[in-house]
Amino acid sequence: MDLARPILSEIHPYIPGKPISEVAREYGVTDIVKLASNENPLGPAPSAIKAMKEAVASLHLYPDAGGYSLVHKLSDHHDADPRGIILGNGSTEIVELICEAFLEPGGEAITGPQAFFKYRIACQIMGVQPVMVAMPDYAYDIEAIISHINPQTRLVFIANPNNPTGTYLDKSAVDRLLEALPPEAILVLDEAYYEFVDLQNYPDGLEYVKAGKRVIVLRTFSKAYGLAGIRCGYAFAHPDLIASMHKVREAFNCNALAQVAAEAALDDVNYLADTMRNNRQGLNQLETGLTKLGLEVVPSITNFVLANFNHSCDEIFVELLKRGVIIRPMGPYELPTCCRVSVGMPDEHEKLFGALGEVLERLEVSD
Ligand SMILES: Cc1ncc(COP(=O)(O)O)c(C=O)c1O
Repeated sequence: MDLARPILSEIHPYIPGKPISEVAREYGVTDIVKLASNENPLGPAPSAIKAMKEAVASLHLYPDAGGYSLVHKLSDHHDADPRGIILGNGSTEIVELICEAFLEPGGEAITGPQAFFKYRIACQIMGVQPVMVAMPDYAYDIEAIISHINPQTRLVFIANPNNPTGTYLDKSAVDRLLEALPPEAILVLDEAYYEFVDLQNYPDGLEYVKAGKRVIVLRTFSKAYGLAGIRCGYAFAHPDLIASMHKVREAFNCNALAQVAAEAALDDVNYLADTMRNNRQGLNQLETGLTKLGLEVVPSITNFVLANFNHSCDEIFVELLKRGVIIRPMGPYELPTCCRVSVGMPDEHEKLFGALGEVLERLEVSD
């Protein structure tokens, strides 16, 4: 019974990292390590857990639809206009709100084949096939993107740093893109991994918003703040753009537990410092260990690395699942020889290296 809008037949659903419970069920393994969804291996901040426990008794009430307290906390924390902040059921939802508010058939959107998958789906839902600009060397090609901009362009989606490649655009590149952006178009700068970046030439998207540029900046509590399961993201933009996005959002799109958890996590400087320490060490360990196993590792400034096996990853992925290790194959991103590995805890990396060494030897694909 095919009653769906024709455009839906062109949509390839987003394939998330395999949940631990599914791998346990399908492969009969226990003691599973998941390094597949760029989650925070430290678990949620203790302060966020406490805040959620306290809020449970009020769950018979609807949440604050505008998220007043969290929005104002974010406003203070980032010295940003509260009217220029919107909350979402994860930043993924905000990608949809952007498309619903600013894109319609006839308009164009630009992204890349190795950009976060959600961008293309959100455009397609609105009846627009996004223009996919090639990303040589695992990174956005600003001049190529500019060459595809035309009067129909409404949205340009860039994750900075980018998932799944771990690469980033420096300030001069983003400045250049903004100079070339026509007045009808908006640059969406997705900064899901913002907190992990510690580089002088990395542009803070919020500064563009404060300078009045047509930029929407996305941030999330799912990564550095360890709250992927509660679904809480937010965006900064000019209040006029945010007002349009409010019109298309579900009234209670940011749930009550998410709001209190995010507020508590934002104050938890010790948790954030622990996360950064673990991530720095973990990135080093992953890059060294995977390189030793003969893989090509793309330098990353995030909480994950992209590794090229120079060999199809399908079988390797399944063999790792059988050994209780979940990583993420990159076929959907047109990188069939690559897998993405999230930073976990040191012993989880060791388990990966052991299992991977065994699998590569068995399949004779290591060099
Ligand atoms: C670039 C990018 N944007 C957005 C998201 C989604 O984040 P959220 O959990 O806030 O929806 C991810 C998650 O992997 C991501 O990598």
